[in-house]
Amino acid sequence: MMFKGRWQFINRIVETLASAKSKGYVFHGQKRVGKTSILIHLRERLNDADQFLCTNFSLSDTATRPAEQPTEAAETESLFAYRFLRALWEALRDFAGRYPGRPVPPFDHPSLDALRADPNPGMTLRERLDDFRWACTQTPGWESRQLVFTIDEFTYLYDAILENDANPARGVPPAYMKFWKGRIEQRLFSAVRVGQDTMPKFLLRFRNELISLMPERLTYLDPQSARELIEDPVRVPETGKSRYLGGAVDKIIELTGGNPYYIQIFCDKLVQEMKRVSQAETTEVEVNELARQLVHDGVQGLTVSAFDGLLAAGNFLQEQAQMAQNWAVLYAIAQNSRGGGSAVRNCPAETVYAAPAVAHLGEVAVAERLRDLEDRRVVERPPQQPDAYRIRVRLFRDWLLHNPPPDHAPGRADG
Ligand SMILES: Nc1ncnc2c1ncn2[C@@H]1O[C@H](COP(=O)(O)OP(=O)(O)O)[C@@H](O)[C@H]1O
Ligand SMILES: [Mg+2]
Repeated sequence: MMFKGRWQFINRIVETLASAKSKGYVFHGQKRVGKTSILIHLRERLNDADQFLCTNFSLSDTATRPAEQPTEAAETESLFAYRFLRALWEALRDFAGRYPGRPVPPFDHPSLDALRADPNPGMTLRERLDDFRWACTQTPGWESRQLVFTIDEFTYLYDAILENDANPARGVPPAYMKFWKGRIEQRLFSAVRVGQDTMPKFLLRFRNELISLMPERLTYLDPQSARELIEDPVRVPETGKSRYLGGAVDKIIELTGGNPYYIQIFCDKLVQEMKRVSQAETTEVEVNELARQLVHDGVQGLTVSAFDGLLAAGNFLQEQAQMAQNWAVLYAIAQNSRGGGSAVRNCPAETVYAAPAVAHLGEVAVAERLRDLEDRRVVERPPQQPDAYRIRVRLFRDWLLHNPPPDHAPGRADG
């Protein structure tokens, strides 16, 4: 699988974890920006170094289980102890598989039933971990390995808390975060916590429970890495020559903004088409034609699900109101960024506010949505024109022109 760019980002995480005062690492970004892909490569990188043992710690069953009653505190503890010890066991199993022949300290974990019957699962967890640490001191290459958990989709927990806010019979109650705080303070492990763009709000709301770390934002690929991701998978085998001619690559970078997911779906379709018509190469003409097909309605056209990560910060379902408002604001920007022909121009701020598409929102809501979209890097203000907006993914801008917000009455004179 292709993986481009991101090594500087990964190196920064490794350096942070290796520093003596490390409190772990937190980063977030749009849906499909490449967070999980980074974690996969980060784990390999960490396990390759003698300093770390790294595995993923899954929160998914926490975030989806029904509300915990106070009487279930014991259950929470047993579950956590089980998940923790099981994750450690899996890390060792995977390590042994990845490096056959290298020594691995012996370790076994109790069953979930045993931990449920245990009057003090928290203490059992600490004892087992102590035993493991001692076994490490007896195993060559393990004397100073640090246990690191990657926690992907950490903001699912926040989604579950928001769900509980709305309906106390559902989701996860905020009190659960106190339990989490206790586990962090025990410093049983270092964590790399990763989630969607609701992360800053999550950390702010639980700043007493979650160690306050500056969350990093993961953005799109730099142009060089984007270029490699476009060209490298389909180079001509004998010569290594690119199959993209003329301005084709630059055009794809412009259309996708360097977002790896959009590059991937765009280039997949482009390559399929090259095969279909038995062409060894592709040009800007085919690129433009594909872009045209993708943004129109119809079988080829991309649906809203391809853009939900741009329309909303986190859980698509929980944020339907914001999503609809963002859609209206983005539609206004798209409409007012039409230059002559296929040219794109920046959309002046006052034009957004005056657009009929946002008339039902009011100025305050529009300002708030613009701030959200700018924070999440969906739109940007060009340095040479700071009072104007542009949508970063050109494909999204073009798509919006053909896909007004669902409640938008067609035929209104706002075109
Ligand atoms: N650095 C990268 N190089 C190549 N492809 C990538 C890269 N990052 C992400 N992708 C592709 O983009 C898609 C979404 O990535 P993913 O890591 O699942 O995003 P996220 O976890 O942020 O939602 C995947 O199909 C993945 O293969
Ligand atoms: Mg992911």
